[in-house]
Amino acid sequence: MQIFTSPRELAAQCQEWRAAGEDIALVPTMGYYHAGHEDLMAHARTLAKRLVVSLFVNPTQFGPGEDLEAYPRNTERDTAIAAAHGTDALFMPEPAAMYAPDHATWVEVPELSKGLCGAARPVHFRGVCTVVLKLFLLSQATVAVFGQKDWQQQAILRRMVRDLNVPVRLVTRETVREADGLALSSRNVYLTPEERAQAPAIRQGLLHARQLAEKGETSVSLLREAVLRLWAQRLPLGRLDYLSVVHPESLKPLTDVTGPALMACAVRLGKARLIDNILLRQ
Ligand code: PAF
Repeated sequence: MQIFTSPRELAAQCQEWRAAGEDIALVPTMGYYHAGHEDLMAHARTLAKRLVVSLFVNPTQFGPGEDLEAYPRNTERDTAIAAAHGTDALFMPEPAAMYAPDHATWVEVPELSKGLCGAARPVHFRGVCTVVLKLFLLSQATVAVFGQKDWQQQAILRRMVRDLNVPVRLVTRETVREADGLALSSRNVYLTPEERAQAPAIRQGLLHARQLAEKGETSVSLLREAVLRLWAQRLPLGRLDYLSVVHPESLKPLTDVTGPALMACAVRLGKARLIDNILLRQ
C-alpha cells in the first residue's frame, strides 16, 4: 500500500493507473475505522482493479462549535486496516494541502441540504460536496462507495454527480450495526455506558414505525408520535434533533406514506449526535 499526503502525487499515480487501463474504486473516509468502514473497503475492493481510500477529517464540513478538534483519530490502526483490505493508495493529506488559505470555490446542492441534518448543520453538506468532488477529481475513480447511514449525504452526492456529469458510479452499502441494532459510527465512542445502553432504542423506534407502516398506517404525524412515545420510555437521555419522513431521493417532507418514504432522525445523547434512518416503503 502506498501512502500519499500530496494531492498532486496521488493524482499522478491515479492517472498512471487509468492510462494503463486500470479502473479505480474510491472509499472516502474520515478515519477511526469500524466494521462499517471495513465493509465499504471490502466491497470497493471487489469493484475495481485499484482501491484508493482517503482518510481526511475534512474541516470544512464542521461548523463552529462542532467536534472537529475532538473527532476521534487513530492513524496507525486505520493504516493497518486499510492495508489489510488491499488498499493500493491511502490518501492522508493535511488540511493545508487540500485548502489554500484563500480557498474560495464551493460545491453546493442547496435544495437537498436545507432539511434533516442540514437544518442544524448549515455548512456541513457544502463541505462534504466540495471535498468529495476534489477526491473524485484527484482519484479519477470510476466507482465510489458510501454508507446508507448517511442517507442525506449519499442522496446529495448522487445529485451532485448527476448535475455535474461526474464520470463516477456511486454505490451505497447498507448500514452495519451492533448486535443490538445501534448503527456503527466513529462518534459512538463519545457515549457513556448509560447512554450506550439506551442508544439501541433509536433503531427500535424506527423499526416500530416501519411495522406500523407495513400494517397500513400512512399518517406521518401518527408514525412520528409512535416513535416519540417509544423513545420517551426507552431513550430518556436522548434529545431530539429531528425525526422526519421524506421522499428518499428528493428529500422533500411527506405528510402521508403512500409511496417511497424514508424516516430519518438525529438524536443527541450526551456528547454524541447520532443519526439513523429506515425505508418505510421502497
Ligand atoms: O461520510 C464521511 O465520512 C464524510 O462525510 C466524507 C464522505 C468522507 C467526506 O469528508
